[in-house]
Amino acid sequence: MGQDKERRKLLRDNIIHEIDREIAVANSRGLYGRVLRKHYQRVIRELRGTRVLDCGCGFGLLTSMCREAGFSVRPIDVDEVSIELAHEIHGIEAENTSLYDVQGEYDVALFFDVISHLSLDRTLDKLREIDARQVILSDSNLANLALRLYRSLHGHEEHAEWSRREIVEAFGQGGYSLRASWYYDVLGLPLGGGFLRRPLPFFEKRSDLVCRLDDGMTRLAAGTRLDRWAAFRYLLVFER
Ligand SMILES: C[S@@+](CC[C@H](N)C(=O)[O-])C[C@H]1O[C@@H](n2cnc3c(N)ncnc32)[C@H](O)[C@@H]1O
Repeated sequence: MGQDKERRKLLRDNIIHEIDREIAVANSRGLYGRVLRKHYQRVIRELRGTRVLDCGCGFGLLTSMCREAGFSVRPIDVDEVSIELAHEIHGIEAENTSLYDVQGEYDVALFFDVISHLSLDRTLDKLREIDARQVILSDSNLANLALRLYRSLHGHEEHAEWSRREIVEAFGQGGYSLRASWYYDVLGLPLGGGFLRRPLPFFEKRSDLVCRLDDGMTRLAAGTRLDRWAAFRYLLVFER
């Protein structure tokens, strides 16, 4: 298949999405990048082992931070535009390889906002093959009504909308135990715009304030157990 045709098919199947390069670069360097950095620092403390596969590395922030922390990371992605941006923003040479074609052995596999682009069965088969002892996975919290409303207004669809429960069950059947889990991002995504939207102008230059507010609101939501509805994301740490 020609490259253009292949890309069109990935877009049609919602395996990759159209990216506005200008917004992606600005947001990676701006408020949203800062919100993510804060969260990734916590994620990196969970890593067990040294060989890390960053599956669907996107623009490369997580790979970059894991490498800075001393881990050996192989970043892979199927989207050429994301690979180019990972190089432009973080100087990372990501490989244009699908998870399904990966060879080798890894201690940890990272899936940040990627599992809804994948088949759970094929993912678990591959994880067994590459012998990943730990899987850290983060995805959109579909129980958050604001997120669902945003998606339906913007016609944003994913390849597969796995719920958190479906993922936990599938990994359980695949031999993984859930070792840690938390909800996060109550304000960062809506105010920071993620990678697809521009941030709200008032907050753009006040990333300190947004990070503090996001921390406070996320803690409050967790304390009242409202996080499962109020947070835009959740994180799961599986081990076997
Ligand atoms: C929503 S982005 C998330 C990027 C990044 N991990 C992050 O958290 O910002 C999902 C990424 O998964 C990639 N992807 C989708 N299917 C894949 C596959 N089979 N193998 C590797 N990457 C894949 C897409 O190209 C896209 O860059």
